[in-house]
Amino acid sequence: MVPGRELELSNNKIAVFTSGKGSNLQALIDAVQAGYINANIRVVVSNRKESFALERAKKHKIEALYVTPVDCRDSKEYFTKLIKFMEEREIDLICLAGFLLMIQPELVRKYKGRILNIHPALLPSFGGKGMYGHHVHEAVIKSGAKYSGCTVHFVDEEYDHGQIVLQRVVPVHDDDTPDTLAERVLKEEHKAYPDAVKLFVEGKLEIKDRKVIIKT
Ligand code: GRF
Repeated sequence: MVPGRELELSNNKIAVFTSGKGSNLQALIDAVQAGYINANIRVVVSNRKESFALERAKKHKIEALYVTPVDCRDSKEYFTKLIKFMEEREIDLICLAGFLLMIQPELVRKYKGRILNIHPALLPSFGGKGMYGHHVHEAVIKSGAKYSGCTVHFVDEEYDHGQIVLQRVVPVHDDDTPDTLAERVLKEEHKAYPDAVKLFVEGKLEIKDRKVIIKT
């Protein structure tokens, strides 16, 4: 950590949505604290109370919000609630990091071009409904693909479909299990996500139809 550097350094306010252990959240926190990303992780949202990501947030004095859909009539009400939380905190960018709920159109439209996701495979292959966690790595191994990797992409109204920001590639070994492949991919995720968020907050990403142009 750069001495004296606080998380509240800039106005690039980020919300991280997660459902799980939060290792990508940690990579983003570390990148902010190291001064690599000039941003402020303002809030971490989880739909699961037991998500370890909430503990990570608290440890770094980031607001940790547990927001369950169980209290809501339907997903529309849930996402309307989330939008309100985002607006109250003047969030500029939402980073999905293992958030397992389908993002509803209300939120996508409100934050168009301002929601990123990380997926543990090389999109457009091995994405879509049901393709999360070990399911992705199982499908990659089963397919016989020689390479896998991770993809950071913008979020639109379809699963794993928005414009691709960047990707990192790893080999698939003959003796890989979903766990060993996941571990290799995750290491690359922890580099790819901070890189993509850095590009976003520096205004270097330009969306042109299906492409993301990285301005130098
Ligand atoms: C990662 O593999 C990410 O690609 C996927 O969900 C997983 C989240 O892991 N979307 P973690 O909670 O960040 O450790």
